[in-house]
Amino acid sequence: MRIRILDTPEQIAKEAADIFAAEVKKKPDCVFGFATGATPVLLYTELADRCKSGDISFKDVTTFNLDEYCDLPVSDKNSYYTFMHENFFNKIDIKEENVHLPDGNAKDVEAHCKAYDEAIKNAGGLDIQLLGVGTNGHIGFNEPAKEFSKGTFKVELTESTIKSNSIYFDENQMPRSALTMGIDTIMSAEKIVFIATGENKADAVRKMLQGKVTPLVPASILQKHKDAVIFIDKAAASML
Ligand code: F6R
Repeated sequence: MRIRILDTPEQIAKEAADIFAAEVKKKPDCVFGFATGATPVLLYTELADRCKSGDISFKDVTTFNLDEYCDLPVSDKNSYYTFMHENFFNKIDIKEENVHLPDGNAKDVEAHCKAYDEAIKNAGGLDIQLLGVGTNGHIGFNEPAKEFSKGTFKVELTESTIKSNSIYFDENQMPRSALTMGIDTIMSAEKIVFIATGENKADAVRKMLQGKVTPLVPASILQKHKDAVIFIDKAAASML
């Protein structure tokens, strides 16, 4: 792991954007794994600005998102499909057919999850996977568990995640389950760019970087990745 502690989320967005920009310049048809949530918004804005100015293009890029809520129409304002389009895809020159998110409304969940992992493989695998972290140490929606998960699967969300994310939903409207890439899918990425900002992530960051590797802190698996760049701001690094 390469750990970069920077003063502000804005600085992290610029450095992380440099990594994605360098990859797409080197390999215009690269495959990116993306994340949702508050953390990556600055990075998406930075990348969209660079695309607008002509510095980089996503026209041959393929993307796979980490996760999506179950039983929420894609048109819902809180679906990750909507999030990604509003915050990023609608602002860049990516082709819609190259954009992939798990289908939280799939009828045959198992077949869909298998097909999602196959599609990642068939696209050549993930060149860079972007990650954030939950206050409970989750990555994607891999919640603390007895074992590390493997491929994409359906997960029941924990109370802690429901509490964190229900601020976006009307009362009791937050879905209780989601589809997420599994730990093996995430770890198969050639490179991982991880971002954590803010004091509320400090405990998860401490456990992930300084604790032992355990499925009870899913992000701790990144200690074993061959090329993970860990960006944390001063606030998230405050318990190290
Ligand atoms: C969402 C995802 C999650 C988030 C995490 C942090 O696609 O992968 O693991 O990264 O819940 O969310 P924020 O950034 O909102 O604190």
